[in-house]
Amino acid sequence: MAIQLGDVAPDFVQETTEGPIHFHEWIGDSWVVLFSHPKDFTPVCTTELGAVARLKPEFDKRNVKVIGLSVDPVEDHRGWAKDIEETQGVALNFPLIADADRKVATLYGMIHPNADDTFTVRSVFIIGPDKKVKLMLTYPASTGRNFAEILRVIDSLQLTANYKVATPADWKDGEDCIVLPSLSNEEADKLFPKGYRALKPYLRLTPQPNK
Ligand code: BEZ
Repeated sequence: MAIQLGDVAPDFVQETTEGPIHFHEWIGDSWVVLFSHPKDFTPVCTTELGAVARLKPEFDKRNVKVIGLSVDPVEDHRGWAKDIEETQGVALNFPLIADADRKVATLYGMIHPNADDTFTVRSVFIIGPDKKVKLMLTYPASTGRNFAEILRVIDSLQLTANYKVATPADWKDGEDCIVLPSLSNEEADKLFPKGYRALKPYLRLTPQPNK
């Protein structure tokens, strides 16, 4: 059955550019971004891997490990890594799964046969330290992903895991949040000492509680 939000992310052992990885052990107490690519030595993927390598300090700051995947052998990944460094000006600084037998791609439903029956689509899974899937995105091969959006979602996921808030459309770290509708006004008064303003009984905004 297809993976759904809240499911435990399937565990696996697979070869990577940093040696074999036992996924759940590797996750440890971190958050994880697992993202797939159609193929090595392709232009969009090359720019994506460079973009993620440049953002490594942002992922580190949020206790997030990143791991890429494509369905090519590790020797190809190593050759491609040289091209990434040469063209993107940054070395690969996270593991890339060599999923030549498509074990992980199959477990995670990363091959969409009606789009392409051989290669993985651009999937993104954000996984929490509890090993559960918090977000899934699927992009076509022709569209490179926006990794600033991935960081924005991580900020929201980490905030809403700890406070009884949700984040509105286009929210960014530091902006007002929504008080969970399940809270009564009396509960909200206690939980949000900075106060809140009610635009409607179900739409109450409060300053970001951890700022
Ligand atoms: C790319 O990563 O550049 C790509 C891969 C497959 C199809 C189109 C583009």
